[in-house]
Amino acid sequence: GNNAVSPAQAQLVSWANNVTGYAAPAIATNLNGAPLPSLTASQAIGTRGHILMQDFFLVEKLATFNRERIPERPVHAKGAGAHGEFVVTNDISQFTKAKVFNGVGKTTPLFVRFSTVGGELGSADTAVDPHGFATKFYTEEGNYDMVGNDIEVFPIRDPMLFSDLNRSRKRNPLTHLKDQNMWWDFVSLRPETTFHTLQLFSDTGRADGYRRMNGSSVHAFKLVNAAGGVVFAKFHWRSQQLAPSLTFQEAKTLTGTNPDYFIQDLYDAIESGNNPSWLLYIQVMTVEQADSYPRNPFDITRNWRVEDFPLIEVGRMTLNRNPVNYFAEVEQVGFSVSNLVPGIEPSPDRMLHGRLLAYQDSLRYRLGTNNPHIPINRPVAEVNSYIRDGQACYGDNGGGSPNYFPNSFGGHEASAEAAHVSFSVEGTVDRFDIPEDEFIEARLFLERDVTTENRQRLLESIADRLKDAQPELQTRVLQNNFYPISVEFGDAVSGELQRALRNANQRGFKK
Ligand code: HEM
Repeated sequence: GNNAVSPAQAQLVSWANNVTGYAAPAIATNLNGAPLPSLTASQAIGTRGHILMQDFFLVEKLATFNRERIPERPVHAKGAGAHGEFVVTNDISQFTKAKVFNGVGKTTPLFVRFSTVGGELGSADTAVDPHGFATKFYTEEGNYDMVGNDIEVFPIRDPMLFSDLNRSRKRNPLTHLKDQNMWWDFVSLRPETTFHTLQLFSDTGRADGYRRMNGSSVHAFKLVNAAGGVVFAKFHWRSQQLAPSLTFQEAKTLTGTNPDYFIQDLYDAIESGNNPSWLLYIQVMTVEQADSYPRNPFDITRNWRVEDFPLIEVGRMTLNRNPVNYFAEVEQVGFSVSNLVPGIEPSPDRMLHGRLLAYQDSLRYRLGTNNPHIPINRPVAEVNSYIRDGQACYGDNGGGSPNYFPNSFGGHEASAEAAHVSFSVEGTVDRFDIPEDEFIEARLFLERDVTTENRQRLLESIADRLKDAQPELQTRVLQNNFYPISVEFGDAVSGELQRALRNANQRGFKK
């Protein structure tokens, strides 16, 4: 893009023009609010002598800088965020009593954070990587976080493998380099990764910016209506800014020319009043359909075909306000899969169960016990809790109200209406690592969803990555991941790989 007309690149100019003006500087203070005597010179003995230990202004400046960084998110470290609102266009109270989705016209404020997954805070937005799509609805019944991705399926189905999956995609522990052997080794040893891999390397994985990216809850959730009726549902966001995906060559070029392309594109669009929007849909599966589904419907390496489970519109999200400060809002926003509201409950999805535990744990480590007190995370719903104290406790900490239950002084009561629906279970407890037919959905994707041109780009982008793995791994990937889809598709990947290897050999060391 042309940076001369980018609001993002001119941010300081517009701040100076709109907020304070160049001409009227306020007095600088320390964090205590006291005026600073100098912003440039320490308190020292003469022009050449030592600095005084009493210069607490200097100490504050040095010490706070040393503490500026907090841990990056262990995954999804780099992202962009924006404020907006959600408006219900189609009432779905027949499926869920969640007030955020009840009543046409119902409007709920929200904050969205988009992200890449494997790279660090400074990595490239267009790297080959899934992209996160996390939405925090500030509902009257508490925050509802929908922490999804652009790709509707996931590479694994058991949370036990989550750290392995991510290590294989992050840096080699010795070289500190991204390592295609690690990536393809894991993929070939866990064939359930195949469908996700296909989507990742297809046009689906290369939207031209966050504004143009679709999103999915990936998991099914249990929706419960006011009468206690249950269905299972997956959520999907559809971008209303339609545009062709990047080609993999464009994406690759952008990693060097503008690694922050997605962040800038989103900021500039909103700053220019060009507010992006998405429609939210659900796919619904009844309990009976789930029971008779030929495969595990709660296995997130599989999708539910829209032909079988059509999209039902729910509402429209519009992003209309950039963050006032990146760290305060985008870095400190804390999404948690366990931030659910009445009417939306966990399904039998094991990955979902792993996530219900993982996110608040990460937030407590990254932001502290009282992360829900940080302004961007604060619910609009009233918080009446017996939980107290802890580091960085803001607000009145419950004031003089009782801090134990039961009590005789009019403390807060539980809500019977908020109880999750009861359900019965039976089964044998064990550890189940049984490969099922891994390729049905991948086959349907290639047959029905992928155009000839998309298929060619998919083959080229797989080959571009796979060519950097060891020959034995290339063979194993073909055998374990691509030939089982069809001999024809295996041959196609193999042919494209040979072409990529020949070209790479002609060029020598990868540039
Ligand atoms: C972020 C764990 C699967 C989407 C995170 C974070 C953790 C985590 C610890 C960082 C949280 C923070 O400190 O803010 C896990 C585990 C998983 C899992 C243990 C599986 C067992 C998934 C899946 C999706 C997903 C299936 C997509 C549906 C995201 C997104 C973020 C994230 C979008 C970034 C949220 C933000 O923007 O702050 N994950 N994750 N994760 N995860 Fe997962």
